[in-house]
Amino acid sequence: MSLAETKAAPSKDIRRRPLVVMQSLSKVFSSGTIALSGMSLTVESGEFISLLGPSGCGKSTALRIIAGLGDVTSGKIDWPSSRINSKGLPEGDIGFVFQEPTLMPWKTVFGNVYLPLKLRGVSKAEASGRIMEVLATVGLQDFASAYPRELSGGMKMRVSIARALVTKPKLLLMDEPFAALDEITRQKLNDDVLRLWKATGITVIFVTHSVFESAYLSNRIVVMKARPGRVHADFPLATSLERDSHYRTSEEYRRACETASRSLIEAMGGSEEH
Ligand SMILES: Nc1ncnc2c1ncn2[C@@H]1O[C@H](COP(=O)(O)OP(=O)(O)O)[C@@H](O)[C@H]1O
Ligand SMILES: [Mg+2]
Repeated sequence: MSLAETKAAPSKDIRRRPLVVMQSLSKVFSSGTIALSGMSLTVESGEFISLLGPSGCGKSTALRIIAGLGDVTSGKIDWPSSRINSKGLPEGDIGFVFQEPTLMPWKTVFGNVYLPLKLRGVSKAEASGRIMEVLATVGLQDFASAYPRELSGGMKMRVSIARALVTKPKLLLMDEPFAALDEITRQKLNDDVLRLWKATGITVIFVTHSVFESAYLSNRIVVMKARPGRVHADFPLATSLERDSHYRTSEEYRRACETASRSLIEAMGGSEEH
């Protein structure tokens, strides 16, 4: 920020502050792999951001660093609108949905969704209402006593989403959550996530390597480039249309896919090969 801008700023900063600011993050693994180099990104509250990029460009590494699951080699992360706990993470929590649902097979759906609250010392009786509420939001209210083996892939993923949301996090991180699902199930879950996003006002960072998925879901796409991983392009996707089956066949969606696709091809060095 220049001095002039500093002077012009109101003494009491009433502007909305970003949720998270990543400043020039670099991550070098002990193997010598430079997973990220100089990655900077500012995320505003309430955004739905897709991190789009080819395999190996550092998307998972970036997400894990945001979640506090991995440290950085250099650079820093700030949470300007949150109070920070002793682990350097924002209070108010972060929900994480991995590519695999990672459910405990010996626990029921209820038991799996209870886990994050159990870890915080909340009794089952106290947690019960919230668990049933969050199961209802993902359409699984009738499956509380089912075991993971009795569920389809899409239902397991819904349990995983419910588990991530049960603590009412401000930020939901999703790492290619639907990559292993069939197309129809994936589209249904895309719609569910959008509905949840609208209903809760949660901020979402959604990792995908699918142009179509990023263009359908997000209001901002951040394209990453590999070797080393960094931001290649960052553009908003504004549409006045409801994101639904009509949007999927609209001209606006087609254009959004084209823009994202072109940027991804550029990020991959101009080759259309994957
Ligand atoms: N734990 C690790 N140790 C060493 N290298 C890793 C580790 N995790 C990821 N990498 C490497 O870092 C790079 C980025 O990986 P990753 O973040 O998983 O990419 P993406 O999620 O975009 O596919 C890749 O080259 C990958 O092989
Ligand atoms: Mg990954």
